[in-house]
Parts: sequence; structure tokens; C-alpha cells
Amino acid sequence: MIPIANPIIEEEEKSLVNEVMDSGMLVMGKYVKKFEEKFAKYSETDFGIATSSGTTALDVALKSLNIEENDKIITTPFTFIASSNSILYSKADPIFADVKEDSFNIDPDSIKRLLNEYPDTKALLIVHLFGQPCDMDEIIKIVNQHNLLLIEDSAQAHGATYNDQKVGSFGDVSAFSFYPTKNMTTGEGGMVLTDQVEIMKKARLLVNHGSTQKYHHDILGYNYRMTNISAAIGLVQFKKLDEYNKRRKKNAQKLTQGLVDLDWLKTPAVLENREHVFHQYTIKTDYRDELLQYLKENGIGYGIHYPLPTYEQNLYQKLGYKDITCPVTERLCDQVVSLPVHPALSEKNLNYIIDKLRKFR
Ligand SMILES: Cc1ncc(COP(=O)(O)O)c(C=O)c1O
Repeated sequence: MIPIANPIIEEEEKSLVNEVMDSGMLVMGKYVKKFEEKFAKYSETDFGIATSSGTTALDVALKSLNIEENDKIITTPFTFIASSNSILYSKADPIFADVKEDSFNIDPDSIKRLLNEYPDTKALLIVHLFGQPCDMDEIIKIVNQHNLLLIEDSAQAHGATYNDQKVGSFGDVSAFSFYPTKNMTTGEGGMVLTDQVEIMKKARLLVNHGSTQKYHHDILGYNYRMTNISAAIGLVQFKKLDEYNKRRKKNAQKLTQGLVDLDWLKTPAVLENREHVFHQYTIKTDYRDELLQYLKENGIGYGIHYPLPTYEQNLYQKLGYKDITCPVTERLCDQVVSLPVHPALSEKNLNYIIDKLRKFR
């Protein structure tokens, strides 16, 4: 079986984790600090605040922007549920814009239409889906024209660039995930990035029970801290991120070369001015049910990212998101299949995947 994801953990990660174990400092400490500094610098931002997951990073990101009850935030419905759930955590209202067919990312024209309808919108939460940066020129224009706050969900796009600028450095604040399937991992883990001192200060309070000094608490905070154990894994993984991303890109290129002429599927596009880091390699096909069966029979792992627009999830239906249609998102939800593209794939694995797909129809 060729798995859809396969985190690479080597001796160096294990050895640094052992060092943490031996130090007795299992939770907060120098590894977390070092990891925050390195990842923030790499992502071209001033401050990094490590968290327990990408979900808690998003929660902190919104709360550190002082997002409040009933604030309207435009976002995408074609993503993992955590993106818009972070809006619900602040009791704010997600407003769903449609996505673009070629990039799977939020469509600036759809954002503009929604801004006409909801001129009091406070923020924009974008997701650089599957490792491909959003259309940042257009998005920054919209943000400036409408005086919006910008949050980047960069959970799937460590190291991706738009016009040579790293994702995570465009918004007021951004959030990353280091879940094991991501481009680099800490086990569970996340990071908030920002250039703004006030946001950094609030984020630091939020992740640590609003604590300014031991047992003194200024605001309602949480225990969203990253452990030193996770940070140790992250520090080693971080050194390999560029190499992993290079392999992901190379694997994607090979898959596209081998599949692009097939008339029953569409290979993913890499759009202009972008460095796509291929968290997922997601094809579109009108023969999905048969294809999934065939992949199963042939031992090729796959993922459906994502089977439902967020607003069609039971949770959102119960919240009253009934009269929304995002036609592109809905079509994509029926067509998408992610194939293995991770850096642990061998040349033989890739040739096998291509060969089997070429024989499908
Ligand atoms: C786009 C997106 N946002 C947020 C998250 C949440 O990250 P985590 O699973 O680390 O909480 C994920 C991870 O699955 C994601 O893919």
C-alpha cells in the first residue's frame, strides 16, 4: 500500500527528543523559543508564537485581532473545517465566498460581491489550500480598499511563496499547523506569526492562560502551549523543510508529466508567480467512485479533500447556513481526489501510480 501521507522521522528527531526528556524541561523552554524564532524568520515575520495545534493557532490568531461576537468574516468553504470553526470560536459569523476552479483558492471576485452585500465585514480569512498561495495581489488590493483585517490560514503551505514572498507574511496574522501529514511536523502543533507587537503580546497571553507572571492572569486565556518535546521534533523537521518541499514539487511534476494527457482527469495547475509546495496533489475527475475503488484495489492511498463545502456540514446546517450556494466549490467536492505526493515516495512508487492510472480507462 502506498500511503497518502508518510511523515519521515529519523534518528536526529529521536535524539533531540531524548535530550529534552533528559533535561527534565518537558513543556515550555528553550526548544520552543528557538523553534518560534527560526520558523518566524524563515516565514519572513517578526514574531512566532508556538501552539498546541493549527486549530489553536487559528483560534489565537482571531482572538489576538480582537474579533468579537457577530463580526463578519469572509472565508472559503473549500477547506478543512478548522478554518471557519476558528471564526465560530470567537462567536463571529463566517460568510462563505466561492473558490476558483484552477487554484481551489478563494475567488477575489466572489469576495468583492460579498463585500457589496456585507459592507460591514471586518476581516478576510484566506487559506492557501494544498500548498498553493492565494491570489495575493488581488487580495491585498481588496483588503486595503475595504480596510479589512487579513488572516492567513497557512496550515498547508509552509515555505510557499507568492512573488517570492513567503505565505504567512502577508496578513495581520497567520496560522500554521504541524500535524503529521503536513509539509513538516511536530506531532500535534501549530504556530501563530505576526509582525505586530500588540498582536504578538495578546497571542502570548492567550496561549498561556492570560498569564503575565506566574499565577497572575490578565485576560481569559487557555493552555494552548507547545511542548518542548514537540518543538524538538519541529527544530529538526524545520531543517529539512526546504528539501521536503523540493521533493514534493519534483514528485508533483513527475505525476503531471505522466498524467496530463489523460482525458478523464485534470492535473493540478501551478499558477503564475507562485511557489506551490504541494501539500496535496489533487486531481479532478468525473469518474471518482470508480477511480476510488480502482485505487483501493491497486494499493494506492488517496484522500478526498474535501467531500463537502463547509456550509453543508451538519454543524453549519444546524447553525442556519441553508441558502448558500457556491457552485464551483460544490462541483469540486464531487470531483477531487488527492494522490500521494509526499517526500517519502520512491521513483518506483511514482511510476507505479502513473502506470496504474494510465490503465484505469
Ligand atoms: C487548512 C487547515 N487549517 C487548519 C488546520 C488545523 O490544524 P490542526 O490539525 O493542526 O489543528 C488544518 C489541518 O488539518 C488545515 O488543513
